[in-house]
Amino acid sequence: MPNAYISGTGFYVPPRVVTNDQLREEYGIDTTDEWIRQRTGIEERRFADEGNAPSDLAVHASKMALENAELTNKDIDLIVFATLSPDFAFPGSGVILQRKLGMCDEGHFPPALDVRNQCSGFLYSLATATSMVQSGAMKNVLVIGAEVQSAALDLSSRGRGVAALFGDGAGAVIVSATDEDRGVRHFQLGADGRHADVLSQKVWDTSKRPFIPQNADGVGQVQPEMMWAQMQGKLVFKHAIERMIGVMMQTFSAQGLTLDDVDLFAFHQANLRINQYIQKSIGAPEEKFLHNIQKYGNTTAATIPILLAEAEQTGQLTRGKKVCCVAFGSGFTWGAAIIDW
Ligand code: UT7
Repeated sequence: MPNAYISGTGFYVPPRVVTNDQLREEYGIDTTDEWIRQRTGIEERRFADEGNAPSDLAVHASKMALENAELTNKDIDLIVFATLSPDFAFPGSGVILQRKLGMCDEGHFPPALDVRNQCSGFLYSLATATSMVQSGAMKNVLVIGAEVQSAALDLSSRGRGVAALFGDGAGAVIVSATDEDRGVRHFQLGADGRHADVLSQKVWDTSKRPFIPQNADGVGQVQPEMMWAQMQGKLVFKHAIERMIGVMMQTFSAQGLTLDDVDLFAFHQANLRINQYIQKSIGAPEEKFLHNIQKYGNTTAATIPILLAEAEQTGQLTRGKKVCCVAFGSGFTWGAAIIDW
């Protein structure tokens, strides 16, 4: 059985920086820099300009990952695209990315799969890619996490509880087959659908006829509570801590690892306080934890691949390092992976 390792990483964030103060001053949101920083650690985020969808951000991140892996479009056997903010209701963003990368023009038509597991989407996708590679079915899988959330945030005081948290961005990795003794050693995934309503965006509801209410002229009418994401923040916070610690400990025990064996922790970036709480409660050194929520906010499926790509770029993440990735999010869903880089 081949091992599945990460042969290349890439990331892209849109150039437009929006600070916490700008949320108040430019968007008129009743918030303060102090509230957002103290509660979440976020200082600023990136918003993509109109005309940019997640597949556009993903193109940049994918090209960087391909270049770093020294691979071309033709080497890719499968695209796995994780996002909660897909370009359209359907088709998935994976096929749109395939077209925008120029694969179709080159006569190359690899399968493309969308994964809808929100903040855990990257780890679900990594697990899928790893299994495909280890089974021998695929040699190189392009895994993307990309989000344009700014298009679907209620950027008003009414939506401040959610709008202050999220940002746009894309991260990509190539999962490749190797005979070398390295790669994804273990992954663990979980879900608890009892909490499916706790963090959700029900912009349409297919149990209704039609799925979006219409006015007398046949124009779709979406109420604000349907249009924008809703979250019970405190409940999510509590479950995030319990599940992230739980799933990480499961991977440690499956691999016979202790905290000292891990060189870097690449946790989902939902709230700096969640990750700091976990770091302190398990007694891990602060410097082993990668963070970027301060400058990008929560980029959902993109947080972990952006962290990995940035850490490679800065030289923090090098061959031989043992990395522990953990995520939790809407669903609830969660996951963890141990990777020997
Ligand atoms: O990646 C997906 C997973 N998501 C998460 O893991 C998020 C987990 N949850 C959290 O990180 C925290 O619950 C939040 C950061 C979202 C919120 O922090 P909190 O301490 O739980 O605040 P809260 O929602 O209980 O709100 C406290 C107060 C409320 O005012 P009142 O009712 O006490 O008067 C809110 O209206 O803070 C108010 N508030 C704000 N004030 C200023 C909520 N959002 C804002 C804001 N600026 N942006």
